[in-house]
Amino acid sequence: MPLPTIEWIGGIDGRIKLIDQTLLPNELKYVYCDDKESIFHAIKTLMVRGAPAIGIAAAMGTVVGIKNSKSEDFESFFKEMKEVTSCLGSSRPTAVNLFWGLKRMEDTAQKNSQKPVSEIKRILLDEAKTILEEDKAICRKIGENGESLLEDGSCVITHCNAGGLATGDYGTALAVMFTAVEKGKRISVYTDETRPLLQGSRLTAWELKNAGIDVTLICDNMAAHTMKRKKIDCVIVGADRIAANGDAANKIGTYSLSIIAKEHNVPFYVAAPASTFDLSIASGDEIPIEERNPDEVTKIAGNKIAPDDIKVFNPAFDVTPASNITAIITERGVINSPNTENIKNIIGYKS
Ligand code: MRU
Repeated sequence: MPLPTIEWIGGIDGRIKLIDQTLLPNELKYVYCDDKESIFHAIKTLMVRGAPAIGIAAAMGTVVGIKNSKSEDFESFFKEMKEVTSCLGSSRPTAVNLFWGLKRMEDTAQKNSQKPVSEIKRILLDEAKTILEEDKAICRKIGENGESLLEDGSCVITHCNAGGLATGDYGTALAVMFTAVEKGKRISVYTDETRPLLQGSRLTAWELKNAGIDVTLICDNMAAHTMKRKKIDCVIVGADRIAANGDAANKIGTYSLSIIAKEHNVPFYVAAPASTFDLSIASGDEIPIEERNPDEVTKIAGNKIAPDDIKVFNPAFDVTPASNITAIITERGVINSPNTENIKNIIGYKS
């Protein structure tokens, strides 16, 4: 059972407790966020990361941001709440779960606008906790829906971290692997280290090893050789935003992995909840790609590995075209050969 990535401690005066993922695997330390500044910082610096976990952090972050509001009427309360949601919404642009979580909180407040502000605050906290509990159930369902894609003896490549740390519990891509193992299948996994921030080596390798799964670490540039020389049965990755046509943004390096998989006729699966789909955009061209601090590329663990003042391009995500994706595994079912029509059939209704 993975450790809780993020949870709410206490009542409406409580705070958010989360694992500081920047310190793993060397140190397992929890941080507490009590206001909008601290949760903004936690999201921005990747203490909490991974699309579903960011959605949960956004919802809980809205609660810490408004819990001390002195407003007595809904109009001024909601104005304060919008300041909180727009602040949190400026933390990271790519994972649509962030905006999904913030909108769900705003909608909840608006639906209850006739109630006293103290009551609305309590309802918002309940909603944030519900989002966390729903995410846990969704991850389990993704695992159940995807595990039949793995056979006894299957070998998988994954990229970045789409495990329990990236969600409320259990993960998306890793949920498929965890569930297959729970069903008695022996599987093995190669995890890309995932430069620049090493979510693959620091987080995925840690999670899989802790779960007793046979995991081997490779550098990102070893994936093609590994696919050529080893028996790789499939690639499974997570996603941060999936457009209406199935183009999927995920951690930088996912697109190149999909090209390598195509070249080697290896099935390429994306595992993601319905909240990661953005049906308002037709294709991946419209997905905003976060660019991060050059230091992430010029330094490893604080040590400089490049000349002073070198120009750096540091996109945190890339977009894998739907044509490279064999299927998308969701809690609502598996979408084979994803395209606008079959995505609409499974995702295009309100649950
Ligand atoms: O920058 P990160 O670490 O937040 O990026 C995370 C990813 O790209 C994950 O693969 C994605 O969010 C899916 S998590 C279930």
